[in-house]
Amino acid sequence: MPSLIEQLNETVAFIRSKYPSASETGIVLGSGLGNFLNEIEVRVSIAYQDIPHFPVSTVTGHDGCLVFGELNGTRIVVMAGRFHYYEGYSPQDVVYPVRVMKMLGVKNLFLSNAAGGVNTSFKVGDLMIIKDHISMAVINPLIGKNEETIGPRFPDMSEPYSRDLIAKAKKAAQKLGISVVEGVYFGVTGPTFETHAEYRMIKLLGADAVGMSTVQENIVAVHMGMNVLAISVITDMGIRDDDSVITHEEVLQAAGEAEPKLTAIFKELVGKL
Ligand code: HPA
Repeated sequence: MPSLIEQLNETVAFIRSKYPSASETGIVLGSGLGNFLNEIEVRVSIAYQDIPHFPVSTVTGHDGCLVFGELNGTRIVVMAGRFHYYEGYSPQDVVYPVRVMKMLGVKNLFLSNAAGGVNTSFKVGDLMIIKDHISMAVINPLIGKNEETIGPRFPDMSEPYSRDLIAKAKKAAQKLGISVVEGVYFGVTGPTFETHAEYRMIKLLGADAVGMSTVQENIVAVHMGMNVLAISVITDMGIRDDDSVITHEEVLQAAGEAEPKLTAIFKELVGKL
């Protein structure tokens, strides 16, 4: 079995044979946020299943691709579809494409996701800039042998989300007249949504929103020295008085409705880096 570095080198060589240019900014699109692709001048799109060492889909009909293109004069690479731990991928599989992005030249990584609100001042459709996260309920993807050439054994996590990018994102939102909130994201494995008691616990532990992605990707990005910006779309309220249930359909719908705001912020920001 080839080492991680050997695998990454093979993946990058394959991608370079299809698209030789380096990409400066990487973007991971969360559930229901795929329309962003319409904003890009697409140069090359490669299906995950064709990329050596990319995780192999366990779910039929799962069709993600890595899209290379330009936005606002900047070369970007977009993951249209991400890998989730709840799908059965290992934590190392979930984060593999983020490592590839770094090796393709990405310095700034934008992550997006759908999340449940536990801050009771939030409402469905809000955009939350993630200022920090709580990762203890997910498996750390750096567990195992550390690849010293990639990053340190014990990475510092005092600035998981770049203060500079957060300030720029807030400025971009203000310029566009889009209101944003800021908060702490609590990572969970899913696939169940949380029980009432769990949402209450997550709030009590200091988080503002909860979701099933992003944290593992953030950890490897920080490990490799990338600057990360992450924005959640609040798609449902975990802390609620009524007896409503949360469905995947409602999450996708709320994400789709908020998507133009998120896209506008990312688009504005990409031109400013
Ligand atoms: N909990 C966990 N993940 C989520 C939620 C939620 O309420 N909404 C969207 N993703």
